[in-house]
Amino acid sequence: MKTVITGTSRGIGLALTEAALKNGDTVFAVSRSPRGLDELRAKFKTTLIPIEADVSTSEGRAKILKIVEAAGGLDTLINNAGILRKTDTEKDLEESFHLNAIVPFLMTTVFLPLLKSAKAPRVVQISTLMSSMTDNSSGGFYSYRASKAALNMLTKSFAIDHPSVRFAVLHPGWVKTEMGGEQAPIETKESAEGLWKVIHGLELTANVKLQDFRGRELPW
Ligand SMILES: NC(=O)c1ccc[n+]([C@@H]2O[C@H](COP(=O)([O-])OP(=O)(O)OC[C@H]3O[C@@H](n4cnc5c(N)ncnc54)[C@H](OP(=O)(O)O)[C@@H]3O)[C@@H](O)[C@H]2O)c1
Repeated sequence: MKTVITGTSRGIGLALTEAALKNGDTVFAVSRSPRGLDELRAKFKTTLIPIEADVSTSEGRAKILKIVEAAGGLDTLINNAGILRKTDTEKDLEESFHLNAIVPFLMTTVFLPLLKSAKAPRVVQISTLMSSMTDNSSGGFYSYRASKAALNMLTKSFAIDHPSVRFAVLHPGWVKTEMGGEQAPIETKESAEGLWKVIHGLELTANVKLQDFRGRELPW
């Protein structure tokens, strides 16, 4: 199986790359700074294909597509790269919507034609429980919450319009990463291994749900 994962220099993206490689996948690991992948590169010489590209640019996305096409196809796209801004200036809102919603939308659009040649194509969006309207009882985080809620909605429409593709909107848990912070209770390995199982158990449905890394449904 061939998988593209974005934002693989650290955190959940790096752990997801390791989980996919250990499960026998060929991984196109997209990152702006591929040095984070050095350790994995030494272990998985033929199945790890690091791609140095910025997903937030059209040149970056075109570069990724070219490399993946040349390698003969794709089964799974995982849009993991994301940002959480602690302030909500106009720039924060614009950058958050761009990376957290518009870029996954464009990546999905760019890769759908190639994915549709696969036997069981999957598109996975790494979202967050913080995108949930029902769960929001503490306010704040306008840029992050709203941009990830937009990602959820875009994915719901994709699932309706592309019934031959399995779509997922996943919450990785509160994970110890640069974004999640030191106090987070979940290690990247646990989150990534859980996400991997959920991704491989996905069914074909237009009725996409927000699910966590253990496969539990969360309220939108
Ligand atoms: N940690 C948590 O508790 C938590 C909870 C819920 C959801 N999430 C979601 O999980 C995903 C991964 O989060 P994480 O905790 O692993 O975060 P992280 O440690 O901050 O890593 C984020 C990744 O996103 C990429 N990225 C950041 N800014 C970018 C930009 N401007 N352009 C392109 N790529 C950029 C980076 O990729 P490169 O440098 O490799 O390009 C980086 O590897 C995010 O979508 C996040 O919203 C995390």
